[in-house]
Amino acid sequence: MKKIYNIAVVGLGQVGIYLLNELNNKKKSIEIKTGTKINVVAISAKNIKKKRKFKINKRIFYSNPLDILKKHKVDILFEAIGLSDGISKKIVEKALKSKVHVITPNKALISKHGNYLAKLAEKNNVNLEFEASVAGGIPILRSIKEGLATNKISKIYGILNGTSNYILSEMENSNQKFNDVLIKAQKLGYAEPGNPKLDLNGFDAFAKVRILSALAFNSKISQHKCLMEGIEKIELKDIKIANQLDLRIKLLGITELKKNQLFESVHPCLVNKKSYIGNVNGVMNAVILEGKPVGESILQGEGAGPGPTSSSLLSDLLSILRGNIKKPFGIPFAQLKALKSYNINNYTNSLYLRFEVRDRPGVLSQITNRLAKYKISVKRLIQTPDKINKKATIVIITHKTSEINSKKCLSIFKNNKNILKFPTLIRLYN
Ligand code: HSE
Repeated sequence: MKKIYNIAVVGLGQVGIYLLNELNNKKKSIEIKTGTKINVVAISAKNIKKKRKFKINKRIFYSNPLDILKKHKVDILFEAIGLSDGISKKIVEKALKSKVHVITPNKALISKHGNYLAKLAEKNNVNLEFEASVAGGIPILRSIKEGLATNKISKIYGILNGTSNYILSEMENSNQKFNDVLIKAQKLGYAEPGNPKLDLNGFDAFAKVRILSALAFNSKISQHKCLMEGIEKIELKDIKIANQLDLRIKLLGITELKKNQLFESVHPCLVNKKSYIGNVNGVMNAVILEGKPVGESILQGEGAGPGPTSSSLLSDLLSILRGNIKKPFGIPFAQLKALKSYNINNYTNSLYLRFEVRDRPGVLSQITNRLAKYKISVKRLIQTPDKINKKATIVIITHKTSEINSKKCLSIFKNNKNILKFPTLIRLYN
C-alpha cells in the first residue's frame, strides 16, 4: 500500500491559501510523481472568518497551530506565517522536535534562527526545507545544493526583492510616485504580509543574501554587521536622471568571498541599461552565480507572489515525498564554517551623488573642493537649474572610492545652509 503523508498548513495568508489550493488540486499528479499520497489533516490561521480567495475546510481548522501536533500524527508541516520569531519559531521548533518535516518560505526565520533550526532538524533526522525563502519561484537553493554541488562558488549577486524591483520598474514606466506603486505591489501579494517596510529597507533581500551565503560557501548563517540599504530614498528624479545617463537603478543583493572573508550587502545600484541585470524588470528576480568549474550561471524568474512561492513550496514537498532526507544547508551542520567578515569600510565603488542646492556663487566649488580634499575624483557632472526657486540639482558621478572615505567626505553636508538636503548616494555596480 502507498504511504500516506499527513500534512498541516499553518498560516493562511495569500501564500498559505494558494498553497492549500495547489495541494488539493495536485493530489493525483503528486501521487504519480512520488508514489505516495498526501492528506491535509489540519490548517491554521489567526482568524477563521477572514475573507479568503479559496474556501477552507472549517472542520480541520485550528486557531492555535500548537494544538495540531497534539491532536494529529503530522508528517510534514508548512509554516507560512512569516514571522522571524514568536509563533513561527515556536511551531517550527515544536514540529522538528516532534520529528515532523518542515517546509517554509520564511526567510526572516531562517536568516535569524537557521543555524539553530538546522541543527535541530539534523538531530531529529527530518528535513527543514526553505527553497521558497529565496527568489520566489526560482529553484536557486536546490540548484546550489544539487545541480552545482561540487562547484567552488566565489560570488552570487542579483535582484532578490520582487517588490522593490516592481516599484522601480513601475515608477520608470508609468511616472507614478513611490507610494502609489507600493499599493499596487501589495495588492498583487508581492510585499511582505503586514509589513512592506521589510521589502523597502532592504531587510527582505538581506535575509535572502544570508541564506545564499550559507549554501554557497558551506558556512553558518552569518550574524555579522552588513551593508543594508533599501529603495526608500530613491525618488522619481533619480530614476529619470539615471535614464538620461543610460543607467537604471536596481536593488542588488551581493555575497562574495573577498580574501576569504565574507562580504554581504544589499543596496541600490546603478547598472548599465543594456546589461543583463538592467533588463530584469517588474516582479522578476535574477540570481547570477560565479563558480568553478561551471563559470557564470544565471537563473531568472518571478521572485514574489503566491504562485511562484507555492511552486517552490511544492518542490520541497516532492523532494521529501521522494525520500530525499537532506541536511538543511547541504552538508552536516558540524562541518559548516564560521567565516570572518570583510570590513565594509574597504568596499569600493564609483558613486552617483545628487545634491539639491541653493543656486548661489561658490556652492559648486564647495562641493568639488570637499571631494578633492578626500581625493574623490569627478568623472561626470550635470547641473540642472531651477530658476524660479533659485535652486539647482547637481549630479556628480565619481571615480571609485571607499565607503569610509565617502562617508567622511559627505558628513560635512549635513550642516550646510546651501545644501538643502543630505546628498542622495547610489553606488554604481562595478
Ligand atoms: N516580499 C518578497 C519580495 C516576497 O517582494 O520579494 C518573496 O520573498
